[in-house]
Amino acid sequence: MDKAAIDRATAHFAKLLEVQMNRMVKVKAMPDWIDYGKLKPIRIGILAGDGIGPFIATESKRVLHFLLKEEVAAGKVVINDIEGLTIENRAAHNKAIPDDVLAEIKKYHVTLKGPTTTPRKGDPWPNIESCNVAVRKELDLFANVRPVRVPKQGIDWIFFRENTEDLYALGPYGIEVDADIAIDFRLITAPGADRICRLAFEHAKKHGRKRVTCVTKANVIKTTDGRFLENFYRIAKEYPGIEVDDWYIDIMTAKLVDEKRRREFQVLVLPNLYGDILTDEAAEFQGGVGTAGSANIGKQYAMFEAIHGSAPRMVTEGRAQYADPCSMIRAAAMLSAHIGYPERGKALEMALDITGQYEKRMVITGRASGATGTAFTDYVMEWLQSPKLASTWEGYVKG
Ligand code: IPM
Ligand code: MG
Repeated sequence: MDKAAIDRATAHFAKLLEVQMNRMVKVKAMPDWIDYGKLKPIRIGILAGDGIGPFIATESKRVLHFLLKEEVAAGKVVINDIEGLTIENRAAHNKAIPDDVLAEIKKYHVTLKGPTTTPRKGDPWPNIESCNVAVRKELDLFANVRPVRVPKQGIDWIFFRENTEDLYALGPYGIEVDADIAIDFRLITAPGADRICRLAFEHAKKHGRKRVTCVTKANVIKTTDGRFLENFYRIAKEYPGIEVDDWYIDIMTAKLVDEKRRREFQVLVLPNLYGDILTDEAAEFQGGVGTAGSANIGKQYAMFEAIHGSAPRMVTEGRAQYADPCSMIRAAAMLSAHIGYPERGKALEMALDITGQYEKRMVITGRASGATGTAFTDYVMEWLQSPKLASTWEGYVKG
Protein backbone atom coordinates (compact mmCIF):
# COMPACT_ATOMS: atom_id res chain seq x y z
CA MET A 1 0.00 0.00 0.00
CA ASP A 2 1.27 3.48 -0.88
CA LYS A 3 1.10 5.12 2.53
CA ALA A 4 2.49 8.41 1.16
CA ALA A 5 -0.39 8.62 -1.34
CA ILE A 6 -2.90 8.10 1.45
CA ASP A 7 -1.24 10.82 3.53
CA ARG A 8 -1.25 13.25 0.62
CA ALA A 9 -4.94 12.56 -0.04
CA THR A 10 -5.81 12.91 3.63
CA ALA A 11 -4.01 16.26 3.91
CA HIS A 12 -5.79 17.47 0.77
CA PHE A 13 -9.15 16.41 2.21
CA ALA A 14 -8.41 18.21 5.49
CA LYS A 15 -7.83 21.44 3.55
CA LEU A 16 -11.14 21.07 1.72
CA LEU A 17 -12.94 20.60 5.01
CA GLU A 18 -11.33 23.73 6.42
CA VAL A 19 -12.51 25.79 3.43
CA GLN A 20 -16.06 24.43 3.75
CA MET A 21 -16.22 25.04 7.49
CA ASN A 22 -15.18 28.65 6.88
CA ARG A 23 -17.81 28.90 4.16
CA MET A 24 -20.47 27.70 6.60
CA VAL A 25 -19.60 30.56 8.95
CA LYS A 26 -20.08 33.03 6.08
CA VAL A 27 -23.31 31.44 4.87
CA LYS A 28 -24.79 31.62 8.36
CA ALA A 29 -23.79 35.29 8.73
CA MET A 30 -25.15 36.31 5.31
CA PRO A 31 -27.01 39.63 5.33
CA ASP A 32 -30.70 39.42 4.49
CA TRP A 33 -32.27 39.79 1.03
CA ILE A 34 -31.44 42.94 -0.91
CA ASP A 35 -34.41 45.27 -1.50
CA TYR A 36 -34.39 46.34 -5.15
CA GLY A 37 -37.07 48.94 -4.42
CA LYS A 38 -34.53 50.87 -2.37
CA LEU A 39 -31.71 50.89 -4.92
CA LYS A 40 -31.08 54.04 -6.90
CA PRO A 41 -30.18 53.04 -9.52
CA ILE A 42 -30.47 49.30 -9.98
CA ARG A 43 -27.31 48.34 -11.84
CA ILE A 44 -27.63 45.64 -14.50
CA GLY A 45 -24.47 44.22 -16.12
CA ILE A 46 -24.44 42.29 -19.39
CA LEU A 47 -21.90 39.48 -19.85
CA ALA A 48 -21.91 38.41 -23.51
CA GLY A 49 -20.23 35.01 -23.03
CA ASP A 50 -18.55 32.74 -25.58
CA GLY A 51 -19.59 30.97 -28.77
CA ILE A 52 -23.19 31.88 -29.62
CA GLY A 53 -23.27 33.97 -26.41
CA PRO A 54 -22.58 37.37 -27.95
CA PHE A 55 -25.22 36.72 -30.64
CA ILE A 56 -28.05 35.84 -28.30
CA ALA A 57 -26.89 38.39 -25.68
CA THR A 58 -27.28 41.18 -28.25
CA GLU A 59 -30.90 40.16 -28.87
CA SER A 60 -31.72 39.71 -25.23
CA LYS A 61 -30.15 43.05 -24.30
CA ARG A 62 -32.24 44.76 -26.98
CA VAL A 63 -35.42 43.36 -25.45
CA LEU A 64 -34.32 44.29 -21.93
CA HIS A 65 -33.63 47.89 -23.01
CA PHE A 66 -37.06 48.01 -24.57
CA LEU A 67 -38.78 46.60 -21.47
CA LEU A 68 -37.04 48.98 -19.10
CA LYS A 69 -36.72 52.02 -21.35
CA GLU A 70 -38.62 54.38 -19.05
CA GLU A 71 -36.60 53.34 -16.01
CA VAL A 72 -33.34 53.72 -17.93
CA ALA A 73 -34.40 57.17 -19.17
CA ALA A 74 -35.36 58.20 -15.63
CA GLY A 75 -32.02 56.95 -14.26
CA LYS A 76 -33.72 54.31 -12.08
CA VAL A 77 -31.99 51.50 -13.94
CA VAL A 78 -28.53 51.44 -15.50
CA ILE A 79 -27.60 48.77 -18.08
CA ASN A 80 -23.90 48.36 -18.95
CA ASP A 81 -21.69 45.79 -20.67
CA ILE A 82 -19.07 43.98 -18.60
CA GLU A 83 -16.04 42.91 -20.65
CA GLY A 84 -13.55 40.12 -20.15
CA LEU A 85 -15.47 36.99 -19.13
CA THR A 86 -14.37 35.29 -22.36
CA ILE A 87 -12.68 31.91 -22.57
CA GLU A 88 -9.62 33.59 -24.17
CA ASN A 89 -9.21 36.00 -21.26
CA ARG A 90 -9.94 33.34 -18.64
CA ALA A 91 -7.38 31.04 -20.27
CA ALA A 92 -4.82 33.86 -20.42
CA HIS A 93 -5.24 34.41 -16.66
CA ASN A 94 -5.61 30.67 -16.03
CA LYS A 95 -8.58 31.50 -13.82
CA ALA A 96 -12.29 30.75 -13.86
CA ILE A 97 -12.93 34.49 -13.39
CA PRO A 98 -10.02 36.98 -13.71
CA ASP A 99 -9.83 39.18 -10.58
CA ASP A 100 -10.59 42.47 -12.34
CA VAL A 101 -13.62 40.93 -14.06
CA LEU A 102 -14.93 39.59 -10.76
CA ALA A 103 -14.48 43.03 -9.14
CA GLU A 104 -16.44 44.54 -12.04
CA ILE A 105 -19.24 41.95 -11.78
CA LYS A 106 -19.61 42.75 -8.09
CA LYS A 107 -20.39 46.38 -8.96
CA TYR A 108 -23.70 45.22 -10.47
CA HIS A 109 -26.74 44.10 -8.53
CA VAL A 110 -27.87 41.76 -11.27
CA THR A 111 -26.29 40.39 -14.42
CA LEU A 112 -27.62 38.96 -17.65
CA LYS A 113 -25.09 36.43 -18.86
CA GLY A 114 -24.56 34.65 -22.17
CA PRO A 115 -23.39 31.02 -22.12
CA THR A 116 -19.67 30.57 -21.47
CA THR A 117 -17.39 27.76 -22.58
CA THR A 118 -16.53 25.22 -19.89
CA PRO A 119 -13.25 23.43 -20.67
CA ARG A 120 -12.73 19.79 -19.80
CA LYS A 121 -9.74 17.48 -19.67
CA GLY A 122 -8.16 17.23 -23.12
CA ASP A 123 -9.59 20.50 -24.53
CA PRO A 124 -7.25 23.06 -26.12
CA TRP A 125 -7.95 25.38 -23.16
CA PRO A 126 -6.40 25.00 -19.70
CA ASN A 127 -8.74 22.83 -17.63
CA ILE A 128 -9.99 25.73 -15.47
CA GLU A 129 -13.17 25.63 -13.42
CA SER A 130 -16.45 26.43 -15.17
CA CYS A 131 -16.98 30.16 -14.84
CA ASN A 132 -20.73 29.56 -14.38
CA VAL A 133 -20.01 27.50 -11.33
CA ALA A 134 -17.38 29.99 -10.14
CA VAL A 135 -19.72 33.01 -10.48
CA ARG A 136 -22.45 31.11 -8.62
CA LYS A 137 -20.07 30.31 -5.78
CA GLU A 138 -18.38 33.74 -5.65
CA LEU A 139 -21.69 35.62 -5.48
CA ASP A 140 -23.31 32.92 -3.34
CA LEU A 141 -26.13 32.47 -5.87
CA PHE A 142 -27.50 29.47 -4.06
CA ALA A 143 -30.73 28.98 -5.99
CA ASN A 144 -30.92 28.11 -9.66
CA VAL A 145 -34.54 28.68 -10.52
CA ARG A 146 -35.73 27.16 -13.79
CA PRO A 147 -39.35 27.36 -14.92
CA VAL A 148 -40.63 25.10 -17.69
CA ARG A 149 -44.12 25.73 -19.01
CA VAL A 150 -46.11 24.12 -21.79
CA PRO A 151 -49.54 25.54 -20.97
CA LYS A 152 -51.33 23.46 -23.57
CA GLN A 153 -50.05 20.20 -22.08
CA GLY A 154 -50.72 21.28 -18.53
CA ILE A 155 -47.00 21.49 -17.76
CA ASP A 156 -46.16 24.24 -15.31
CA TRP A 157 -43.02 23.30 -13.40
CA ILE A 158 -40.53 25.34 -11.53
CA PHE A 159 -37.26 23.73 -10.47
CA PHE A 160 -35.25 24.96 -7.52
CA ARG A 161 -31.80 23.54 -8.16
CA GLU A 162 -29.27 24.02 -5.36
CA ASN A 163 -26.45 25.95 -6.96
CA THR A 164 -23.41 26.16 -4.71
CA GLU A 165 -22.87 22.64 -3.36
CA ASP A 166 -23.06 18.96 -4.34
CA LEU A 167 -20.45 17.50 -6.73
CA TYR A 168 -20.10 20.91 -8.33
CA ALA A 169 -18.70 22.69 -5.27
CA LEU A 170 -15.54 20.62 -5.18
CA GLY A 171 -15.52 19.72 -8.87
CA PRO A 172 -12.03 21.11 -9.50
CA TYR A 173 -10.64 19.82 -6.19
CA GLY A 174 -10.81 16.05 -6.54
CA ILE A 175 -7.80 13.87 -5.79
CA GLU A 176 -5.75 11.83 -8.22
CA VAL A 177 -4.74 9.50 -5.42
CA ASP A 178 -2.47 7.31 -7.51
CA ALA A 179 -2.33 5.88 -11.03
CA ASP A 180 -5.49 3.84 -10.35
CA ILE A 181 -7.69 5.87 -8.04
CA ALA A 182 -9.41 9.21 -8.68
CA ILE A 183 -11.82 10.64 -6.12
CA ASP A 184 -14.22 13.59 -6.21
CA PHE A 185 -16.20 14.89 -3.28
CA ARG A 186 -19.87 15.51 -2.86
CA LEU A 187 -20.88 18.18 -0.41
CA ILE A 188 -24.32 18.79 1.08
CA THR A 189 -24.73 21.06 4.09
CA ALA A 190 -27.70 21.66 6.35
CA PRO A 191 -27.69 25.46 5.83
CA GLY A 192 -27.34 24.86 2.09
CA ALA A 193 -30.22 22.40 1.93
CA ASP A 194 -32.37 24.53 4.22
CA ARG A 195 -32.10 27.72 2.22
CA ILE A 196 -32.93 26.15 -1.14
CA CYS A 197 -35.84 24.18 0.33
CA ARG A 198 -37.15 27.26 2.10
CA LEU A 199 -37.02 29.28 -1.11
CA ALA A 200 -38.99 26.56 -2.93
CA PHE A 201 -41.67 26.56 -0.21
CA GLU A 202 -41.78 30.36 -0.11
CA HIS A 203 -42.31 30.37 -3.85
CA ALA A 204 -45.12 27.82 -3.54
CA LYS A 205 -46.76 29.87 -0.80
CA LYS A 206 -46.50 33.16 -2.65
CA HIS A 207 -47.78 31.77 -5.95
CA GLY A 208 -50.49 29.53 -4.59
CA ARG A 209 -48.78 26.29 -5.66
CA LYS A 210 -50.09 23.31 -3.73
CA ARG A 211 -47.26 20.83 -3.90
CA VAL A 212 -43.49 20.75 -3.43
CA THR A 213 -41.51 17.69 -4.52
CA CYS A 214 -37.98 16.82 -3.46
CA VAL A 215 -35.73 14.76 -5.75
CA THR A 216 -32.75 12.78 -4.45
CA LYS A 217 -31.30 9.28 -4.50
CA ALA A 218 -31.32 9.04 -0.73
CA ASN A 219 -31.76 5.26 -0.70
CA VAL A 220 -28.29 4.83 -2.21
CA ILE A 221 -26.41 8.08 -1.56
CA LYS A 222 -27.27 7.87 2.07
CA THR A 223 -25.20 10.54 3.76
CA THR A 224 -25.50 13.59 1.52
CA ASP A 225 -28.85 12.96 -0.15
CA GLY A 226 -30.07 11.65 3.19
CA ARG A 227 -29.16 15.01 4.73
CA PHE A 228 -30.83 16.96 1.91
CA LEU A 229 -34.07 14.98 2.24
CA GLU A 230 -34.12 15.19 6.02
CA ASN A 231 -33.80 18.97 5.80
CA PHE A 232 -36.51 19.13 3.15
CA TYR A 233 -39.02 17.41 5.45
CA ARG A 234 -37.95 19.57 8.38
CA ILE A 235 -38.55 22.80 6.45
CA ALA A 236 -41.81 21.35 5.08
CA LYS A 237 -43.23 21.33 8.62
CA GLU A 238 -43.18 25.14 8.55
CA TYR A 239 -45.58 25.06 5.57
CA PRO A 240 -48.46 22.87 6.73
CA GLY A 241 -50.79 23.94 3.88
CA ILE A 242 -48.47 22.60 1.20
CA GLU A 243 -48.47 18.98 0.10
CA VAL A 244 -45.03 17.35 -0.03
CA ASP A 245 -43.52 14.22 -1.49
CA ASP A 246 -40.16 12.93 -2.64
CA TRP A 247 -38.95 10.88 -5.56
CA TYR A 248 -35.68 9.28 -6.59
CA ILE A 249 -33.92 10.91 -9.49
CA ASP A 250 -34.09 7.83 -11.74
CA ILE A 251 -37.84 7.37 -11.54
CA MET A 252 -38.40 11.13 -11.64
CA THR A 253 -36.52 11.24 -14.94
CA ALA A 254 -38.98 8.63 -16.21
CA LYS A 255 -42.06 10.35 -14.74
CA LEU A 256 -41.31 13.57 -16.61
CA VAL A 257 -42.11 11.72 -19.84
CA ASP A 258 -45.27 10.17 -18.37
CA GLU A 259 -47.94 12.42 -19.87
CA LYS A 260 -50.53 11.56 -17.24
CA ARG A 261 -48.39 11.93 -14.15
CA ARG A 262 -46.14 14.80 -15.07
CA ARG A 263 -48.86 17.44 -14.86
CA GLU A 264 -49.09 16.77 -11.14
CA PHE A 265 -45.63 18.15 -10.40
CA GLN A 266 -45.47 21.81 -9.57
CA VAL A 267 -42.48 22.98 -7.54
CA LEU A 268 -39.43 20.71 -7.47
CA VAL A 269 -36.36 21.09 -5.28
CA LEU A 270 -33.17 19.14 -5.77
CA PRO A 271 -29.39 19.06 -5.36
CA ASN A 272 -27.16 20.63 -7.99
CA LEU A 273 -26.23 17.79 -10.37
CA TYR A 274 -29.69 16.19 -10.47
CA GLY A 275 -31.07 19.66 -11.10
CA ASP A 276 -28.65 20.24 -13.96
CA ILE A 277 -29.70 17.02 -15.67
CA LEU A 278 -33.44 17.10 -14.96
CA THR A 279 -33.88 20.69 -16.12
CA ASP A 280 -32.33 19.94 -19.51
CA GLU A 281 -34.79 17.06 -19.87
CA ALA A 282 -37.69 19.22 -18.73
CA ALA A 283 -36.78 22.02 -21.15
CA GLU A 284 -37.03 19.56 -24.03
CA PHE A 285 -40.84 19.44 -23.65
CA GLN A 286 -40.98 23.18 -24.05
CA GLY A 287 -39.00 23.15 -27.28
CA GLY A 288 -35.45 22.40 -26.15
CA VAL A 289 -32.78 23.98 -23.98
CA GLY A 290 -32.68 26.89 -26.42
CA THR A 291 -36.06 27.98 -25.06
CA ALA A 292 -35.33 27.85 -21.34
CA GLY A 293 -34.08 30.63 -19.12
CA SER A 294 -32.75 30.44 -15.62
CA ALA A 295 -32.29 32.66 -12.59
CA ASN A 296 -29.33 32.28 -10.26
CA ILE A 297 -30.50 33.90 -7.07
CA GLY A 298 -28.60 34.89 -3.96
CA LYS A 299 -29.45 37.25 -1.14
CA GLN A 300 -27.21 40.03 -2.45
CA TYR A 301 -26.74 39.32 -6.14
CA ALA A 302 -28.58 37.59 -8.96
CA MET A 303 -27.49 36.38 -12.37
CA PHE A 304 -29.81 35.44 -15.23
CA GLU A 305 -28.80 33.19 -18.09
CA ALA A 306 -29.73 30.55 -20.65
CA ILE A 307 -29.73 27.00 -19.35
CA HIS A 308 -27.53 25.74 -22.19
CA GLY A 309 -23.89 26.00 -23.23
CA SER A 310 -22.04 28.17 -25.75
CA ALA A 311 -22.46 25.85 -28.78
CA PRO A 312 -19.03 26.63 -30.29
CA ARG A 313 -19.78 24.33 -33.21
CA MET A 314 -22.53 26.66 -34.40
CA VAL A 315 -19.92 29.39 -34.63
CA THR A 316 -17.28 27.32 -36.47
CA GLU A 317 -19.97 26.14 -38.89
CA GLY A 318 -21.04 29.75 -39.50
CA ARG A 319 -24.52 29.27 -37.99
CA ALA A 320 -24.35 31.50 -34.91
CA GLN A 321 -26.84 34.00 -36.31
CA TYR A 322 -29.42 31.19 -36.37
CA ALA A 323 -29.00 30.37 -32.68
CA ASP A 324 -32.21 30.51 -30.63
CA PRO A 325 -32.15 33.67 -28.48
CA CYS A 326 -35.31 32.57 -26.65
CA SER A 327 -33.47 31.15 -23.62
CA MET A 328 -31.66 34.40 -22.94
CA ILE A 329 -34.74 36.50 -23.63
CA ARG A 330 -36.62 34.37 -21.08
CA ALA A 331 -33.75 35.08 -18.72
CA ALA A 332 -34.33 38.81 -19.34
CA ALA A 333 -38.02 38.30 -18.49
CA MET A 334 -37.06 36.63 -15.22
CA LEU A 335 -34.61 39.44 -14.50
CA SER A 336 -37.31 42.11 -15.01
CA ALA A 337 -39.68 40.25 -12.70
CA HIS A 338 -36.96 39.76 -10.09
CA ILE A 339 -36.04 43.45 -9.83
CA GLY A 340 -39.65 44.53 -9.40
CA TYR A 341 -41.39 44.49 -12.78
CA PRO A 342 -43.27 41.18 -12.80
CA GLU A 343 -45.99 42.34 -15.19
CA ARG A 344 -43.38 43.16 -17.85
CA GLY A 345 -41.70 39.82 -17.33
CA LYS A 346 -45.09 38.16 -17.80
CA ALA A 347 -45.81 40.12 -21.00
CA LEU A 348 -42.47 39.05 -22.43
CA GLU A 349 -43.19 35.42 -21.49
CA MET A 350 -46.50 35.64 -23.32
CA ALA A 351 -44.86 37.09 -26.43
CA LEU A 352 -42.31 34.26 -26.36
CA ASP A 353 -44.97 31.58 -25.86
CA ILE A 354 -47.04 32.90 -28.76
CA THR A 355 -44.04 33.15 -31.08
CA GLY A 356 -42.29 29.92 -30.13
CA GLN A 357 -45.01 27.52 -28.94
CA TYR A 358 -48.26 28.48 -30.64
CA GLU A 359 -48.20 30.57 -33.72
CA LYS A 360 -44.89 29.19 -35.01
CA ARG A 361 -44.69 31.62 -37.89
CA MET A 362 -41.12 32.35 -36.94
CA VAL A 363 -39.30 29.05 -36.50
CA ILE A 364 -35.73 28.70 -35.29
CA THR A 365 -33.93 25.60 -36.60
CA GLY A 366 -30.36 26.61 -35.83
CA ARG A 367 -29.64 26.67 -39.56
CA ALA A 368 -30.39 28.76 -42.65
CA SER A 369 -33.63 26.78 -43.00
CA GLY A 370 -35.00 28.76 -40.05
CA ALA A 371 -35.25 32.33 -38.85
CA THR A 372 -32.26 34.29 -37.60
CA GLY A 373 -32.15 35.24 -33.94
CA THR A 374 -32.57 38.87 -34.95
CA ALA A 375 -35.70 38.25 -37.04
CA PHE A 376 -37.17 36.12 -34.24
CA THR A 377 -36.50 38.84 -31.69
CA ASP A 378 -37.99 41.55 -33.92
CA TYR A 379 -41.12 39.45 -34.10
CA VAL A 380 -41.26 38.86 -30.34
CA MET A 381 -40.99 42.63 -29.88
CA GLU A 382 -43.91 43.16 -32.25
CA TRP A 383 -46.06 40.89 -30.10
CA LEU A 384 -44.82 42.58 -26.97
CA GLN A 385 -46.24 45.87 -28.24
CA SER A 386 -49.45 44.40 -29.62
CA PRO A 387 -52.70 45.38 -27.87
CA LYS A 388 -53.85 41.81 -28.59
CA LEU A 389 -51.02 40.19 -26.63
CA ALA A 390 -52.90 39.06 -23.51
CA SER A 391 -56.11 38.03 -25.26
CA THR A 392 -54.22 36.07 -27.94
CA TRP A 393 -52.13 34.29 -25.32
CA GLU A 394 -55.19 33.39 -23.27
CA GLY A 395 -56.95 32.17 -26.39
CA TYR A 396 -54.05 29.88 -27.24
CA VAL A 397 -53.74 28.48 -23.74
CA LYS A 398 -57.46 27.75 -23.43
CA GLY A 399 -58.10 26.73 -27.03
C1 IPM B 1 -26.15 24.82 -16.69
C2 IPM B 1 -24.92 24.39 -17.43
C3 IPM B 1 -23.75 24.56 -16.48
C4 IPM B 1 -24.04 23.69 -15.29
C5 IPM B 1 -22.38 24.22 -17.05
C6 IPM B 1 -22.05 25.04 -18.25
C7 IPM B 1 -21.32 24.34 -16.00
O1 IPM B 1 -25.05 23.08 -17.87
O2 IPM B 1 -26.24 25.99 -16.31
O3 IPM B 1 -27.02 23.97 -16.46
O4 IPM B 1 -23.84 22.49 -15.37
O5 IPM B 1 -24.51 24.22 -14.29
MG1 MG C 1 -26.93 22.22 -17.56
